[in-house]
Amino acid sequence: MTDIIRPTDAIAELRKEIERHNHLYYLEAKPEISDYDFDKLLEKLIALERQYPDLITPDSPSQRVGGTITRVFPSVQHREPMLSLSNTYSRGELEEFYNRVRKLLILEGVHEQEMVAELKFDGVAVSLLYRKGLLVRGATRGDGLQGDDITANIKTIPTIPLRLPDFGSLFAESEENEIEIRGEVFMRKEDFEQLNDSRPEEDRFANPRNATAGTLKLQDSAEVARRKMCFVAYYLKDSGAEAPTQLQRLRQLEKLGFYTGGHYRLCRELDDISKFIEEWNEKRWKLPYETDGVVLKLNNVRLWEKLGATAKSPRWAIAYKYPAQQAKTVLHAVVFQVGRLGSITPVAELEPVFLAGSTVSRSTLHNFDEIERLGVMLHDRVIIEKSGEVIPKVLSVVLDERPSNAEAVQVPAVCPECGTPLERPENEVSYYCPNEDNCPAQIRGRMLHFASRDAMDIKTLGKALVDQLVDIGLVKDVGDLYFLQEPQLERLERMGRKSAQNLVRALEESREKSYERLLYALGIRHVGRATARELASAYPSFDALSQASEEELATVPDIGPVVARSICDFFSKSSAPAFIEKLKKAGLPLSASEPKEQVNSNFEGLSVLFTGGLDRYDRPTASELVLQRGGRVVSSVSKKTGLVVAGHEPGSKLDKAIKLGVRVVSEDEFEAML
Ligand code: IVH
Repeated sequence: MTDIIRPTDAIAELRKEIERHNHLYYLEAKPEISDYDFDKLLEKLIALERQYPDLITPDSPSQRVGGTITRVFPSVQHREPMLSLSNTYSRGELEEFYNRVRKLLILEGVHEQEMVAELKFDGVAVSLLYRKGLLVRGATRGDGLQGDDITANIKTIPTIPLRLPDFGSLFAESEENEIEIRGEVFMRKEDFEQLNDSRPEEDRFANPRNATAGTLKLQDSAEVARRKMCFVAYYLKDSGAEAPTQLQRLRQLEKLGFYTGGHYRLCRELDDISKFIEEWNEKRWKLPYETDGVVLKLNNVRLWEKLGATAKSPRWAIAYKYPAQQAKTVLHAVVFQVGRLGSITPVAELEPVFLAGSTVSRSTLHNFDEIERLGVMLHDRVIIEKSGEVIPKVLSVVLDERPSNAEAVQVPAVCPECGTPLERPENEVSYYCPNEDNCPAQIRGRMLHFASRDAMDIKTLGKALVDQLVDIGLVKDVGDLYFLQEPQLERLERMGRKSAQNLVRALEESREKSYERLLYALGIRHVGRATARELASAYPSFDALSQASEEELATVPDIGPVVARSICDFFSKSSAPAFIEKLKKAGLPLSASEPKEQVNSNFEGLSVLFTGGLDRYDRPTASELVLQRGGRVVSSVSKKTGLVVAGHEPGSKLDKAIKLGVRVVSEDEFEAML
C-alpha cells in the first residue's frame, strides 16, 4: 500500500506545482514551462478532481478556469467606503497638496513628512475580501458605498491568491478574521491588443481600461479567464500593528503573494517626488501595462484617520496625472481603407514619430467630413495626440507652417481595392464601393466578421488566413469556407497539416451554432445582434425570412424601414439564390431549434424598451429575462411600445415614451413583473 500515491497527495502536489508556475509566469516573468505544458498540468488536476469531487477546494487552481455563469451581479455593501483620489494635472496643485499635508502634520506634532510615490495603474478598482485566509468576495467600486459582487470573475485572475499564507500570525488582530485588499484589475498592453485583434472592427475596445471594465462584467467567467486579466494590489486595510506604514503594507502584500508592481519609492522631500514623476514619465512606456500618473500617499498609516477624507477622496493622498502626449509630424499621404460593408475610411500616413511609447505612422481620419473640419491638406504639419486611447488622432493643423506644396486631399473616384466607381448615398458622411460581391476588401471583411466571437466564433480563422484564402481565390463568400478540403489548406503558407485539420474541425463545429448567430454573422447591413434576435424569433426559418416583403419586415418590433429595406436588398441580389443554396449544402443552421425555455408568460406579446442604467441587471441579462417570458426587446419608442423600463440617467427615450403615453416602470417594478 505504501507506494501507492493517494489522490489527496497527488492533488496537493499538482496544485502546488501549478501555483508555483503561475507565480513564476506572472510575478517573476520567468516561466519554466511552456503554456502547453502548463495547460496539461491544469487538465490533469481537473481530471483528478472530477474523479474525486470531494477533494475539490475553493482555493484549487482549477477554480480559476471559470465556467460559472452569473446572470445578475448582486449588489454588495463595502465594509468602508471605497474612496477615489483627487486628481491633478498641475505640478503647482501637487505642491499645494504637499504643503497642506505638511501643515496638518505639524498640527499633529509630526515634523517629518514621508510620502510614498506609486504608479497610478490605469484599470478598474476592485475590493477583495478574505475570510480566514480564503478569498470569499471580489467586488467593483460601484458608487463607493455599494458595488457589484463579481467573485466568479475575480477568481479567474491568476495574480489574485485564492488563499493567503500565514494568515494566523499576520492578522491575528483583525476583526472576524477578515481582511480586505484593494487594487486595480488591468490588462497588459499585449493581451489587450491580442483581444482587440480577435474582434470585429466595430466591437473593439478603445483602450485596455475599457476592455477591463467590459470583461469584469461578463456573465461567462470562462471567457474572463481567457482574457488574461491582471491585478495589482495597493491597499491593505486590516493589518493592525504589524505594518504602520504604507511602505510596510506594500511589502506585506508582496509577502502574501500579491503583485504590487514593485515600482514605489519613499520620498522625504518634494524634490524626490518630482524626480519620481519625471523618471516615470519616460520609463512608463516600457512597462507592459498602462500607467497614467503617479499616486502620492502619506507613509504613516496611523495618521490617515487623523487627516480624514472629504466626501470623495482622502486628504492623505493625491493622484498626479500625466498630460496627454502630443507630437508634431508631417502628413505625407491619405490612403483609403475599404470596410466589410464597402465604406471608405481615409487613413493618414504620417512621418513616423515617437509618441507615448510607440512609433506612430498612421492615424484614422474617420471620414471626409472630418478632413474638412480639420482643414487638413497633404504635406501639412499636424499635431497628433494620444490620450487614454491607444490609437492616436490628428488633433489640428499647424497653419503657420503650411508648406507651399500643400495639396487638397482628393476624394478617390474609384475603390482602391477593386477600381469600381465610388458612391456617396444621400445624407451619409461616407463614400461606398458598390461592388459588394467582388471587391476583395469587402469579401475579406465579411469573412472576418463571420468568424468573429459574437458571430460564428471560429478562432482559427484569423486575418492572415482570410487574406490568403481570398487573395488566392479559394473562397468568395462565407459559404465556400465549408467546402474547403484539408489538402488544399495544407498547401497554404504557414499552415501545415495540423492547422489545416484544426480549421476544418472548427468549421464543422461552427455548424452547431444558433440560427440567430448565423443571421448576425452574415453581416447584413444594419443587422446587429439585437436585430438578428428579433428576426430569428419573427421568422424562425431562413426561407421564410427570404420571402418576407419590406412592409412585412417593418412590422417586426424594432425593425424600421431602413433595416427592412436592407434585408430585402440582401435577398433580392442576383447572387442570393445560389448563396442560400450553398449555405444549405454547407449544413449551416438555417432555422431556429426548439423554442426557448419559457419561465412564465408575464411579458407575453409585450415589447419592452430599456433606457438608462439598471443597478441589478446588465442589458443582455434584462433582455434575456424578458424574452424568456414571452416578450420582445426593442430599441426605439413608438406608440406600439408596450413598456419602458427606466433606470438611472434615462435618455430622451423616456421623454418620448411619456409624451406617447407608453407605460413606464422603475427597475423595482420591472423586477416585480419578472
Ligand atoms: S489608492 C483611498 N493607489 O486611481 C485611496 N489608487 O483616480 C484608494 N489607482 O480609485 C486608491 N493606481 O482606482 C491608489 N497606486 C494606486 C493606484 C490607484 C490606480 C486608481 C484607483 C482610484 C483611482 C483614482
